[in-house]
Amino acid sequence: MESFLQIRREARDINQRDGITGILAFGEGRFMQILEGDQETVSQTYARIVLDSRHHSCKLIQFTFCPERFFEGWTMRHLTVQKEMLEEIEFFEEFQPHLWSAERCLSFALKYTVWARQNRPESSSELTIA
Ligand SMILES: Cc1cc2nc3c(=O)[nH]c(=O)nc-3n(C[C@H](O)[C@H](O)[C@H](O)COP(=O)(O)O)c2cc1C
Repeated sequence: MESFLQIRREARDINQRDGITGILAFGEGRFMQILEGDQETVSQTYARIVLDSRHHSCKLIQFTFCPERFFEGWTMRHLTVQKEMLEEIEFFEEFQPHLWSAERCLSFALKYTVWARQNRPESSSELTIA
């Protein structure tokens, strides 16, 4: 499988072009992704991702309307999930997003971004101002 770095670079470039924002987390062999954008573009992006042979067993957790973006400015914020970080943001469990509700996935992603701003200021170079 290609590296996480290559996937997220590719995703970031296309998402910037397409006005898609969100987060891509990787840990314990699993990806969790949130995509935001207009309905049709998100559907098309998701359709491409599902067909990508670099991963398998893709599961759609929720497809819903949101009045505004949670990850405005992030063309695809990446996150490598580590146990230490999960404990710090008070997620005392395995990284098993395929078993989580949509609310739990979002809560995880939001808690992570707050934590990252405080603890990983160097990753702010990933922030693209729209
Ligand atoms: C885990 C994962 C996440 C991805 N996320 C995105 C994404 O956010 N946006 C995107 O355009 N492509 C993403 N890709 C890449 C797409 O699957 C696909 O390779 C890319 O959109 C180019 O599509 P094309 O080869 O049909 O032109 C992701 C791939 C993987 C494996």
